[in-house]
Amino acid sequence: MPRKWNVHDLDAAGKTVLTRVDFNAPLSGGKVADDTRIRASLPTIRALQKQGAKIVLASHLGRPKGERNLEYTLAPVAERLSALLGETARFVPDCVGASVSEAVERLEPGGVLLLENLRFYPGEEANDPEFARQLASCADLYVNDAFGAAHRAHASTVGAAQMLPPAAAGLLMERELTYLSKAFDNPPRPFYAVLGGAKVSDKIGVLRALMDAADAILIGGAMAYTFLVALGRQVGNSLVEPDKIETARDLIVQSMMKRAPLYLPIDHIIAKELSPDAEAAAAWRDTIPEDCEALDIGPATLEMYALILRRAKMIVWNGPLGVYEVDAFAGGTLGMARALGEMDAETIIGGGDCAAAVEKAGAADRMTHVSTGGGAALEFLEGRELPGVAALTDKM
Ligand code: 3PG
Repeated sequence: MPRKWNVHDLDAAGKTVLTRVDFNAPLSGGKVADDTRIRASLPTIRALQKQGAKIVLASHLGRPKGERNLEYTLAPVAERLSALLGETARFVPDCVGASVSEAVERLEPGGVLLLENLRFYPGEEANDPEFARQLASCADLYVNDAFGAAHRAHASTVGAAQMLPPAAAGLLMERELTYLSKAFDNPPRPFYAVLGGAKVSDKIGVLRALMDAADAILIGGAMAYTFLVALGRQVGNSLVEPDKIETARDLIVQSMMKRAPLYLPIDHIIAKELSPDAEAAAAWRDTIPEDCEALDIGPATLEMYALILRRAKMIVWNGPLGVYEVDAFAGGTLGMARALGEMDAETIIGGGDCAAAVEKAGAADRMTHVSTGGGAALEFLEGRELPGVAALTDKM
């Protein structure tokens, strides 16, 4: 992947920098419930402050569907951001128009302004050129630090970037691209991938891409059961995608031809139903009763996977290995998080559920990189070009 301009390449002193961030943080009772994504963009904000730039932050939050809905206001994020910065990040209750121009006018070098939710306007998701023009009109320069939204071709990630060249990557964006692209760009070997999630259909792209790049793939989550059925195994009432059994068979054959083995669970945590007070039990492969479904990998699988992974120089993990939101079925996912935290290998964690799991296991600080992108990290690992990254200016 070509190297992109970054914040340090800009001459931002005294200039207004439209900075796209992904502050799509969960809210609870009008407060930010998890500030990971806000903290992740602090280095970019501080680097721009150091240059004496006037920083205008723009983000989406949730999916308000192009309408002003204060359930999705970024006001609580401004409050949290101010606390993290140790100074006031001003908030303007709109993202385009006169109130924005006036607030930008009053901004001092080093000052930080957060705009209201971009998705209050339909022009954002439609990548409407007029909306992008209005957004860009408040600024001299453009930075994109919103890796989590880079798979969206929206006005703030693509349109405005094209209107304010050179479009530079923020430091978080740069870090995400550096680590995630290691999977495809001369990774330290052996390089193993751990893939989980409920459906084979959601993971076909990433399975195919990583099968080309990795030395082995270790599978968990409900998608393992479509693979096991493809091998003629008994899986009881576990989730299986009948129309993906042939695809699973094809992937198994490909893995043999590429000499990148696919590992599947050898034991499972099963229950009659998925509920917090379900009676959970361990079962070996082929012993899942007809009225039970597998909801997590079992302890023997976890031990076997950890043993295999100990040989790795680099590990990429995407997708939970069980229904980790329910305590009885969280052992595999949290156990994997803890095991990876103890490895010498470089550990790169795809965002979304895996990022939440390593956090819950208290192992996030021990990972080499935990992505802030859910869908974006998955699309990147599928080998797809992300529109928000493509819109950034290549370094000569
Ligand atoms: C995310 O949470 O994955 C990003 O912020 C993108 O959000 P979206 O899926 O609503 O576009």
